[in-house]
Amino acid sequence: MKFDYYLFDFDGTIAETGEGIRRSVAYALERLGRPVPGEDVLNRFIGPPLHDSFVELCGFDDEGAEHAIEVYRSRYIGTGLYEASIYPGIAQLLRALHEGGAYVALASAKPEMMVERLTKHFGIDRYIDAISGTTLGRHSADKRDLLLAALPEGADPARACMAGDRSFDIEAGKALGMTAVGTDYGYSIEGELAGAGADLVFDTVSEMTDWMLEGERPRGLFITMEGSDGCGKSTQIARLKDWLTRRGYETVLTREPGGCPISERIREVILSLDSKGMSAECEALLYAASRVEHVREVIEPAIKCGKIVICDRFLDSSIAYQAYGRELGEDFIRQINAAAAERVRPDVTILLEVDRERARARMAKGAPLDRLEMEKEDFFERVRRGYEAVKAQSPGRVFAIDAGRTIDEVFEDVKSVVDRSL
Ligand code: TYD
Repeated sequence: MKFDYYLFDFDGTIAETGEGIRRSVAYALERLGRPVPGEDVLNRFIGPPLHDSFVELCGFDDEGAEHAIEVYRSRYIGTGLYEASIYPGIAQLLRALHEGGAYVALASAKPEMMVERLTKHFGIDRYIDAISGTTLGRHSADKRDLLLAALPEGADPARACMAGDRSFDIEAGKALGMTAVGTDYGYSIEGELAGAGADLVFDTVSEMTDWMLEGERPRGLFITMEGSDGCGKSTQIARLKDWLTRRGYETVLTREPGGCPISERIREVILSLDSKGMSAECEALLYAASRVEHVREVIEPAIKCGKIVICDRFLDSSIAYQAYGRELGEDFIRQINAAAAERVRPDVTILLEVDRERARARMAKGAPLDRLEMEKEDFFERVRRGYEAVKAQSPGRVFAIDAGRTIDEVFEDVKSVVDRSL
């Protein structure tokens, strides 16, 4: 690691918290009968102590500013706080620093209890050694004190790197003798960070990650979703992607068959009703061909650069549908998929299980059926047995979830499986 200590500002560096702050400031001003300024002025509330902003930007006196903060907090604590997300890629960066043995801390002018709540809410608390913030009710705070409080006792500030998106972050870091880097993807105005003396300014989380990790990105995670047709996979996958992105993970959502131009063309051939009568062997080979291309073009490169890949179906589908459903046997399917399987293996597979009646009802409501969905019931019974076999073979990787419940209930289980593997 380049440094022993990595200190991050929170708003505009770790988290995009602007929406909740802007809305809560506007709410306070409206309630106090004051005009609500435009978004550029509201954005200037993000980062510095609120008291200062109410005084400087809205002309309140000290007492008026304290009252405005009270009204602001009456909305912010329950609602505004959660109108936020972690910048995609931040979770992977914090994780890599933490696992690399560095000390990781947050220093924010926000009340400490709010930063704590948010880091827990978004699941990044596990990568963080310390949080320093203000106490509720304290007027303002010097960023230098916050940075010092975030370091362990006796730590040498020269061994620390701090990252922030506002001039006062950079100035405080420099004044303490730290390396201070600016995050221009946050709420800075043009030229602000360079002007404050930042050692480096990054336009994206990815640039900052490359610099902090010296190009060494840890391997990402490969999640696959499986289940019989009509199990509700698409809904859960879309939710999972959204959930992970808001928690600061860079994700790639892809599908099989398909996922890249050549494989999407193969998909058309496989699923088209014009392909009626295709031999089972040809079908299995097409799935395998589509897969190996998809792995090389999309899955493997994304995992190598640290992303989380969520794939709608993978090799287990070929085991269930072709080895069992088409009765081609597992040996043949594993053999023709070896080129793809040797390159990547799913870390976690979520298998959504639903009884056939419910699955049929769901499919009847959806898009017109494709060639595979029109198969007979005994085919789907064999597919079900195929998935049973997959589950029995890899209990540490495949997690079965009862998908016959409500979308929210199923998603709770999906989240907890993925959360454990992060
Ligand atoms: P798709 O429309 O993606 O279905 P779903 O939404 O249920 O995933 O179509 C994919 C179909 O292809 C589906 O019926 C399962 C089948 N399939 C296989 O038979 N073998 C495979 O290896 C894969 C990836 C899919």
